[in-house]
Amino acid sequence: MIEIIGVSKSYNRGAVKAVDNVSINIRNGEIFGFLGPNGAGKTTLIKMIAGILNADEGTIKINGMDIKENPLEAKMQFGFVPDDPNIFSRLTGLEYLNFMADVYKVPAATRLGLMQTLLQRFEIAAAAGDLIQSYSHGMKQKIVVIGALLHTPPVWILDEPMTGLDPRSSFDLKKMMREHADAGNTVFFSTHVLDVAEKVCDRLAIINKGRVILSGSMQEIHTQLGAKQSLERLFLEITENE
Ligand SMILES: Nc1ncnc2c1ncn2[C@@H]1O[C@H](COP(=O)(O)OP(=O)(O)O)[C@@H](O)[C@H]1O
Ligand SMILES: [Mg+2]
Repeated sequence: MIEIIGVSKSYNRGAVKAVDNVSINIRNGEIFGFLGPNGAGKTTLIKMIAGILNADEGTIKINGMDIKENPLEAKMQFGFVPDDPNIFSRLTGLEYLNFMADVYKVPAATRLGLMQTLLQRFEIAAAAGDLIQSYSHGMKQKIVVIGALLHTPPVWILDEPMTGLDPRSSFDLKKMMREHADAGNTVFFSTHVLDVAEKVCDRLAIINKGRVILSGSMQEIHTQLGAKQSLERLFLEITENE
């Protein structure tokens, strides 16, 4: 569960209001999507949830834990995949995964089995001993996803996770997101692709210029729009204004 209550954030001393009074409740058992064009404020909000940026205003709780007041406890609740998988390029994949497992205190007895399972699932087991700098964008993305899942967090937070993944891995990741939510956990991800949001999310919020303009299930969103306007049309209009 993620509770976002009245959260705002500006850059450049207020010149750019990237996130403007956003309130969203993301429940257990659902995949929640954050859909918006580039520059809408998705990454800024996600960085605040992950505790990388401080909100100017508002409160964010992950499974009841306030990211500002109890950052370490809150951070143990989620796995975070940033939009840019540029990480420790001079480590091998395995070294990186062991580093992540150390940070999150994953017991030595369980980590190896979990790593092997995930490395095979994403079909990069053969490259695990190679330096990350030799990886393609998609491979880096995969190793970051695996690293974020090693402490088996109940909440997944993924910023544009499908970008750069090959179709097979993208399919696998979506399937894993579904399974994770169906097991009663929370999956929150952002995308600028309407199709992805439509296919993957149980509920979504559409964000533009830092504000949530529509939210709910696909059906609720269609009801709010009325018969006259399609979501695709609305999304095109938002995107064109950028
Ligand atoms: N570090 C920063 N300094 C100044 N402005 C920023 C910074 N990061 C993002 N912005 C601006 O904030 C707005 C939201 O950006 P971002 O959260 O990255 O959106 P999205 O992830 O939806 O593309 C954009 O106008 C962007 O230019
Ligand atoms: Mg972004």
